[in-house]
Amino acid sequence: MKIKIINQLKDNYSFVLYNRTLKSCVIDPAESTPILNFVFENNLSIKDIFITHHHKDHTSGVKGILSAFPEVNVHSPSAQIENTRFVLHDQDEVSSCLNTFKIIKTPGHTLDHIIYYDESNEVLFCGDTLFRLGCGRVFEGTLYEMYNSLKKINELNKKTIIYCGHEYTLNNLNFIEKVLKKKEAYLTVRKKIDHDFKNKGKTVPFLLEDEQRYNLFLNQNSKLATLIKKELGLTDFELFAYLRKTKDSF
Ligand SMILES: [Fe+2]
Repeated sequence: MKIKIINQLKDNYSFVLYNRTLKSCVIDPAESTPILNFVFENNLSIKDIFITHHHKDHTSGVKGILSAFPEVNVHSPSAQIENTRFVLHDQDEVSSCLNTFKIIKTPGHTLDHIIYYDESNEVLFCGDTLFRLGCGRVFEGTLYEMYNSLKKINELNKKTIIYCGHEYTLNNLNFIEKVLKKKEAYLTVRKKIDHDFKNKGKTVPFLLEDEQRYNLFLNQNSKLATLIKKELGLTDFELFAYLRKTKDSF
């Protein structure tokens, strides 16, 4: 299975999954034109669309795709999301034309948020729940809900390759360096990120194992997080809440 990352809007990503059968699935379409351009150039047909949450920058491309492929199956977490044909729930297993996703409910950013985990291909599409070195803003859920949602990601296979909904990495890195005052701990990460930008023009996808070491929103039990918790006298959840609240006004 191949995965093409399509730049969308200012800093969104959508994903086209495809293989030699020339069938494809699309995750979180925001703008249909660049997606359809890629699909037509490669003689693909779109069979399934998967939506992570109701925000417009993850759904507004559905309409345009439907006009080109009226038979497409639109999967989402809520019947309120326009054109949904299949509503997905926590722990559902859903088969696409290419693979099987396990659905994991991750409330916090929105209440309806779900993520798509393909265990056999070791990939995760996590929308706006986790970002590289950060996490989504908590708009609809509570901080505690978001903390628990991130925990579910932290427990997946550490070799999982993660595809998130936005390119926010540089801002997240600048924030974490500033707030932790541990710039030296992020030297290797900054090098890797510079390298990704230079070579691919983006820092997505990324490896769960790396996030477990460096993303303190995700994992409060890494070596670094343990040190910070001790310095600030915080519990796991308090560290998460402190970072999320501070980041909101960064
Ligand atoms: Fe969002």
